Amino acid sequence: GASSLTHHGDFIKCLSDHSNTSIPVYTPQNSNYSFILQSTMASLKFNTSTTPKPFLILTPLKESHVQTAVICSKKHGIQIKVRSGGHDFEGLSYISDVPFIIVDLFNLKKIDVDVNSKVAWVQSGATTGEIYYKIAKKSKTLGFPAAICTTVGVGGHFSGGGYGFMLRKYGTAADNVIDARIVDAHGLFWAIRGGGGGSFGIVVSWKIKLVSVPPVVTVFSVEKTLAEGATSLVHKWQQVAHELPQELFLILSLGVVNAIPKGNKTILATFASMFLGDAKKLHAVMQERFPELGLENKHYIEVSWIQSVLLFDGFPMNSSMNVLVNRPQPKSLAKAKSDYVKQVIPQIELEKIWERILKDEQTGMVFIPYGGKMSEIAESETPFPHRNGTLFKVLYLVYWTEEQVESSKKYIKQIRRMYEFMTPYVSKSPREAYANYRDLDLGQTSKNGTASYAQAKVWGSKYFKDNFDKLVYVKSKVDPDNFFRNEQSIPSIPIFRDY
Ligand code: FDA
Repeated sequence: GASSLTHHGDFIKCLSDHSNTSIPVYTPQNSNYSFILQSTMASLKFNTSTTPKPFLILTPLKESHVQTAVICSKKHGIQIKVRSGGHDFEGLSYISDVPFIIVDLFNLKKIDVDVNSKVAWVQSGATTGEIYYKIAKKSKTLGFPAAICTTVGVGGHFSGGGYGFMLRKYGTAADNVIDARIVDAHGLFWAIRGGGGGSFGIVVSWKIKLVSVPPVVTVFSVEKTLAEGATSLVHKWQQVAHELPQELFLILSLGVVNAIPKGNKTILATFASMFLGDAKKLHAVMQERFPELGLENKHYIEVSWIQSVLLFDGFPMNSSMNVLVNRPQPKSLAKAKSDYVKQVIPQIELEKIWERILKDEQTGMVFIPYGGKMSEIAESETPFPHRNGTLFKVLYLVYWTEEQVESSKKYIKQIRRMYEFMTPYVSKSPREAYANYRDLDLGQTSKNGTASYAQAKVWGSKYFKDNFDKLVYVKSKVDPDNFFRNEQSIPSIPIFRDY
């Protein structure tokens, strides 16, 4: 219902009534309010004077503070937005059209790594980079299969699945979650490993299974323009990448560059790879499976697993792994969309796609290979359903600069056109999408965070396919009042409660 709150004092009194220790609170009157609000806001798109601002921001120092925050927002009928790393592409962790508070978990970032039992407990406010760092500090042969981007927050990332360059070997981050700390209720543990953040409660910490990595891994990156045969290579990539050994992740990015020497625009296809093994073995695999790429020994770089993490996230060779901890959030203006491809796109169609990209050159595409472990995990194992039969995922990404902020609409139109254009080549009924590439174009709840089953199924079936029904069932049981909600949360439907 509508919030009865008018004074910050009422809410702050509730907090102190329900907590023995003081919880840091920032109201708009506080000089640090804007700094805290912006601190982990990954998208500058929402950093404007007209963007709705929270009634206050709470930054819990311990688990009990999170519980207190929930009690007091329930009491005062104000919506909670929970933020871990602030990377939500639609800003759902820090924006709302109704009065809201932010429970910001950035202080809860403890990571306990136990190399003997190969598990770790990580709090939601940690970043993936901090996990990699903590593991690498203790072991050269353990790692964790989560985001390529190392500033992504654990809380949202694990809630939506989460993938990086070990996806084909070990599945998603959520596949490797073995326990969590959240209000314990029936079915909840299943729902929180991929069912999207913000629908079921606040996950405070996660127990994860560490995975084996060899002391030496091998990376390469090669670029090909259209003149260098990119079209046939991309065609071949689609047939090969999902069938390669699970140890090999070969990701493909497509963008526009100036052709040399003429200065015409051309498509640049970048093939970048991470292999859990040495260069000699990798070369043998590439020679056998994808000789057309023309790799030679000079292309391979042997590094430690943690160095490969840094290289993939754009840090220069031999960077110190200290860059993974306590660094400022990189910020950008961007919009993302996603698709899943189940059938090889023929060369002649690829050429049409190139024409489309060349017309809207700020919108790039990344093809993320599936297969391997991803095909072995049943669709119903976790809410994340994109498994066997998927050749690759498409990430569409458009970036623009702060100087171009006036033209934001223009760039958003670009990516929508690109998505529309791709319709014939991607999955249908439903047209699948990745929950962690949040996209409100797929639909959203009404202003107060409610949606009918049929309305929510429009985006819910894209993100979760048939798992959507089970998510509605769990939600209806554990949160019948729809307290935890956002613009794309799972609805609570009375009839599901009675099953
Ligand atoms: P944020 O804090 O914004 O939360 C996202 C959603 O989860 C919100 O709805 C929020 O309320 C909810 N939530 C947050 N914490 C919660 C908690 N503790 N309990 C319950 N709900 C919670 N993905 C990927 O798989 N691989 C990748 O390599 C990348 N790379 C990447 C790069 C960049 C630059 C961006 C902006 C995004 C990605 N992503 C990605 C997508 C990323 O996985 C996705 O945005 C995650 O939801 C981000 O999690 P955060 O905690 O940072 O987001």
